[in-house]
Amino acid sequence: MSQTHWTVLGAGSLGCLWAGYLNQAGFPVTLLHREEVAAPESLSLTRFQEDQATAFKAELTTASACPEKSISRLVVATKAHDAVTAVAGVQHALTDDACIVLLQNGMGSQQAVAEKYPEYAIVAACITDGAYRTEPGHVIHAGQGISRVGALNAQGQKVWRQVVEDLEQTDLIIEACENINQALWNKLAINIAINGLTALNQCLNGELMQPERYQRVSRLCRETEAVMAALKLQLPEQGLLPLATDVIKGTAKNRSSMLQDTLRGKITEIDYINGYLVQQAEHLNIEVPESLSIYREVKLRFNQPSS
Ligand code: PAF
Repeated sequence: MSQTHWTVLGAGSLGCLWAGYLNQAGFPVTLLHREEVAAPESLSLTRFQEDQATAFKAELTTASACPEKSISRLVVATKAHDAVTAVAGVQHALTDDACIVLLQNGMGSQQAVAEKYPEYAIVAACITDGAYRTEPGHVIHAGQGISRVGALNAQGQKVWRQVVEDLEQTDLIIEACENINQALWNKLAINIAINGLTALNQCLNGELMQPERYQRVSRLCRETEAVMAALKLQLPEQGLLPLATDVIKGTAKNRSSMLQDTLRGKITEIDYINGYLVQQAEHLNIEVPESLSIYREVKLRFNQPSS
C-alpha cells in the first residue's frame, strides 16, 4: 500500500514535531523551511518522556521550490499571523484535491484560510502538546497533549476521517472531532484567560493566582462565557473559571507561548486570542472590556503591528 506523502510547512517546534512523528510512523515527509533561513543540517525528535533523540528523515526544501501540483497533504505549522501568506506561497504546488491541515493557535487564522481557499479540503487540529527546539531541526516533545482533528469546510468533511486514520498511525494522541469549532473555542477560552495576562505581567502561568491578577482571569472567563453562550457553544456547568484555574495550576511553572514571544521580541498571537474575542463580541453587541484592555495593552506595550 502506498503511503500518503505529507508536506509540513514550517520547521518550528510544532512543524518538526509533526514531521518527526509522521516520518517515524513510516510516512514520507517533506519539510518546508523559510526561504531566508538555511535548511537544518539534521533532524531529530526526542519523544515524550524519552531521553534519547532519534533521527527522522524529511526532504528539506522551500515553498517556492516545490514542483507544481506536487502536494496533496499539507500541514501548515506556522504562527497564526503567517498562515494565509504561507498557504499563498505554496498554492502552486497544491493538487486539485489537496487537503490543508491547520495547526494554528487561537482562532481567526484558520477561518481566514478556509474563506480564501474554499476549493481545498480544510481540516483543523486543536493541539495541546508542548514542544520546543534545542536547535534548528531538533525537537523535544516536552508535554503530552491531544490533537483534536476535524473538518472546517465542506471539502474537508469528505476527507478528514482519512486524515485522522493516517495520524492515528503515529504516536501522537489523536482524537476525531465532529465539532472542531467547539474544540477550538474551548482552547481559545483558556488562552484568553492566561496568555495576554502572563505577557503583560511577565510572569509564569502559576503567578496568575495572585489575587489582583486572578480577578482579571475571572473577568476574562465571564466575558468569554457571554460570547460563547451567544454563539450557542457548550460551556462547562461550573463555568470557565474552574477550568482555567486547573490549567493555571497544572502549568504553574510554564512560560505561556505569548510570554515567550514577548521575551524573544516576536509578534504575538494577541489578534487571534483576545483580539478574536473582541471581534466576535462586537458582532454580537456584547461588551468585553477586560479582553479589550488586554488586547490594547499588549499591542501598545510590545509594539505589535496593527491588524
Ligand atoms: O499558549 C500556551 O502557552 C498554552 O496554551 C497554555 C495552556 C496557556 C499553557 O501555557
